[in-house]
Amino acid sequence: MAEDTLTITDNRTGHEYTLPIADGTIRASDLQQIRGEGDDAGLMAYDPAYLNTASCRSAITYIDGDAGILRYRGYPIEQLAEEATFLETAFLLLEGELPTAEQLHRWEEDVRYHTYVHTNVQKFLEGFRYDAHPMGMLLGAVGALSTFYPDAKEIGDPDGRYLQRVRLMAKLPTIAAYVFRHAHGLPYVLPRNDLDYIGNFVNMTFEIGGRHEPNPVLQRALEILLVLHADHEQNCSTSAVRGVGSSHVDPFSAVSAGIAALYGPLHGGANEAVLRMLDQIGSTENVPGFIEEVKGGKGRLMGFGHRVYKSYDPRAKLIKRVADDVFEQTGLNPKLEIALELERIALEDEYFVSRRLYPNVDFYSGLIYQAMGYPTDYFTVLFALGRLPGWIAQWEEMLGDPEQKISRPRQVYIGEPERPYVPRAERS
Ligand code: ACO
Repeated sequence: MAEDTLTITDNRTGHEYTLPIADGTIRASDLQQIRGEGDDAGLMAYDPAYLNTASCRSAITYIDGDAGILRYRGYPIEQLAEEATFLETAFLLLEGELPTAEQLHRWEEDVRYHTYVHTNVQKFLEGFRYDAHPMGMLLGAVGALSTFYPDAKEIGDPDGRYLQRVRLMAKLPTIAAYVFRHAHGLPYVLPRNDLDYIGNFVNMTFEIGGRHEPNPVLQRALEILLVLHADHEQNCSTSAVRGVGSSHVDPFSAVSAGIAALYGPLHGGANEAVLRMLDQIGSTENVPGFIEEVKGGKGRLMGFGHRVYKSYDPRAKLIKRVADDVFEQTGLNPKLEIALELERIALEDEYFVSRRLYPNVDFYSGLIYQAMGYPTDYFTVLFALGRLPGWIAQWEEMLGDPEQKISRPRQVYIGEPERPYVPRAERS
């Protein structure tokens, strides 16, 4: 019978070690017992950017990057995108099971009850410059919420955690809408508790003079996009939330770290970068030339490639369907033609095929958001609204995991050895 162990011979010493294998992993800390001669501190695993390191055990999201599979709590993303509301998906991620009708009702009502933000939040948002980036405003405002809710420090109290979870889910759309109105110089619109989660958010962003005609197709499209973004296991922003949360800071501060990570162009900022790229390309005739430039190392094809998916991102497939529904309502966008041509050429090109680079979730989402009326620099805010339940679920899972401690990676020091301080006058 094969054993679930790994035997390692250290050729420096000739010693042999047998390490247990569990769930396809060895424990990096088991390597510490492997020591060379002298006062060696033990072997470490060197893994910059965590390419092959599992940082936790998680029961939330399953991804098979080769097969293009994504499931939340075991449910295929395709079925959730088809059937579930965003709040239902959030409940699933947070609680582990789909809600009963009664549970869903309570969850929706709890969130509805907390949609207002303190008027001082509005005041400090007004202090931002007119051209402030919406993500900078969002991460600042969410971090500041911790000062409004000092009880959020009580992270060991399950009822308290539920309350912060509700506050975050309820208030993020309100803050996001304020940020949108700020950029447009429009007066803020208060939450309307007669509307559902998506309807209220859309109303807070687009209402003018007390009026807004909701478009159910566009609202459902937005809801599907939020469902598709709701969690993606240990991505950069989620790892930031877990890492910062591991210091036992309050969840508003931890989520604000997640928003900061999402802001970056290699993560949530990619759909913004896709639109800029499409603008730069200008028309379909320029697509082959642009592809050649990318292959020559001049920039990247934004919205292509993924650290985990080495086949078509299943979310990108679903988003393409959403794009059809949206463009039927809003009319065709010339940038869509450029995107389709880019995708067509890239999927046939040896450079992209051999590196297994396929469209990711961001390739089409920006086009959809733009058609809905959201400005380019606002796209990542919508991503943050979607990712929020995932961040909270992962944060709570981390807190409940007895194996987790404060995140503190090791390093391989490659700097100078010890040397004496040189007085200022003696430095050349
Ligand atoms: N365009 C052109 N070449 C690319 C691209 C791209 N979009 N992505 C990767 N490559 C190439 C790299 O140059 C590299 O080629 P080489 O082996 O000849 O050096 C090879 O493919 C592997 O690339 P890595 O950077 O090692 O892949 P990694 O897994 O680290 O990067 C990432 C993943 C950051 C997503 C990358 O594909 C990228 O920059 N894509 C564009 C930005 C983007 O769309 N980000 C959104 C990610 S999805 C999300 O956050 C929701």
